[in-house]
This record gives sequence, structure tokens and C-alpha cells, in this order.
Amino acid sequence: MDWGMKNRLASILSPKSGRCVMLAVDHGYFQGPTSGLQKPGETVAPLVEHADALMLTRGVLRSTISADVRIPIVLRASGGTSILQDDLSDEDRHVDIQDAVRLNVAGLALSIFVGSKNERRSLTNLAKLCDEGQQYGIPVLAVTAVGKEMVRDARYLGLASRIAAELGATIVKTYYCEDFEKVVAGCPVPIVIAGGKKIEERDALKLAYDAVSAGASGVDMGRNIFQSKWPVQMIQAVRGIVHEGKTADESWDWFQHAIG
Ligand code: R5P
Repeated sequence: MDWGMKNRLASILSPKSGRCVMLAVDHGYFQGPTSGLQKPGETVAPLVEHADALMLTRGVLRSTISADVRIPIVLRASGGTSILQDDLSDEDRHVDIQDAVRLNVAGLALSIFVGSKNERRSLTNLAKLCDEGQQYGIPVLAVTAVGKEMVRDARYLGLASRIAAELGATIVKTYYCEDFEKVVAGCPVPIVIAGGKKIEERDALKLAYDAVSAGASGVDMGRNIFQSKWPVQMIQAVRGIVHEGKTADESWDWFQHAIG
């Protein structure tokens, strides 16, 4: 691995622990003005100091994030569908590598849709992005997106995660599921988990704890942080689990105390 690739990767995953709390705010790329992200710059402002990396689109980056903010950027590079479509797998790569370099990103992210009718296209897009990432020293985060009809179990998520790694992804983002250890065991690169739809804070903390206990390298979490009534305390509580070895209960106690 070349120095640039190693350096960018070390800015996302802690070189000491290999762990990461990534804040995901890219939802608007297919959901439009997602609840909590109507003004993404305002949402993100108090959270960046607690995040190891920020995942978003170039439009939101350029228009709402100040260039002097010191946070590694993981740039979503795929899109092309909206929530109005039944089939969300009809995505393509929408950011070229030169733009990623201009934006000084630490990583690029692209969704793959294993099991969908666009499986081959999304996997080919991932492989090409990984080629270009290698050429320019930019790590690629593969997002194992799931369709409505896909079961989020260890067999399916393990399959999608392993394929992403085989095609060259540097990090894989997937969902937590029962037997998550099997997903991690079958994937030779670090895995981070998405948080999914907003759930109770205590449950989201347990999700993060269960994931890292099963071998995840951390989280790439969005709605369970920015849709919380207490986003700053929530991201800190997640950090407690990912970086400080707190249990779900310890982190929940901390959170309750922090929100008064
Ligand atoms: C989904 O396609 C986006 O990439 C989100 O970044 C991802 O789902 C993580 O956000 P959340 O924790 O809200 O699921």
C-alpha cells in the first residue's frame, strides 16, 4: 500500500485501534431533504469535532461545509435514483477521480446491490472505482445497500461484504445482523456498520456495542445520531463504545447523565 493510501486510511480508521466513528449525512442523495438534514451544514457543525470522518456528497460538501473544517471526508461517489423509484439499485458512479482529488477526500464510497437486477453494474462500478482509488491513493468504502426484498441476515450480508472486499474495497459498510461474527470472519477488510432507521437511543447504543463486540471496526452512523434530540451526546456515547471500550449499559448511563 502506498504512503498516500495508508495516510488517508489512517485518517479514517485510528492507526492505534483500527476503529472509527464515521458520521453519515449522505442520505439526501436519494431521499432529498431527509429529516434532520434539511440544513446539513447546521446539523453537522456541532458534531464534526466528535467524528473521525464525515460521509457525504460533493454537493453538500461544497455548499455547506467550510473548507477549514478539519475532518476527513468520505465522499459518496454513486447515485442516480430517488425514493420515488421501486428499485433503488439503478445507481451509477457519479464522481470522477479528479473531482475527488480536488475535494481532498480521504475516501470514496459507492453502493453495491448484490442480488438486485443491477448487481453486475454496481459491482463493476466498484471494481473500477477501486482501480482508480489505487492509482490515486484513495481508499474505497463499499456500501452493501439492501433492497426491500433482501433479507438482512449473515448469509446475505456476508456474501455482499466478501464480494466487496474481493473486488478491492478498502473498507466495507454493512448492517448489523444476528451472527455478525460470521460476516466479519468472512471479510478480509475492516467492516463498519450503518445505524439504519432511527431507533431509541439505548437500542442504537446496544447495536453499536454488539457490532464492535462481534468484530466491527466501528460505525458509519447517520440517523441514530442526527435525528436524536441529543445528537452531540449521542455521538459521544457512540464514541465511548467504539473508542473507550464502554459497554452498552455504561454508555447509556453516560448518555443519560450527559442529557441531564
Ligand atoms: C445510505 O445509503 C447511506 O449511505 C447512509 O449513509 C447509511 O445508510 C448510514 O446512515 P444510517 O446510519 O442513517 O443508516
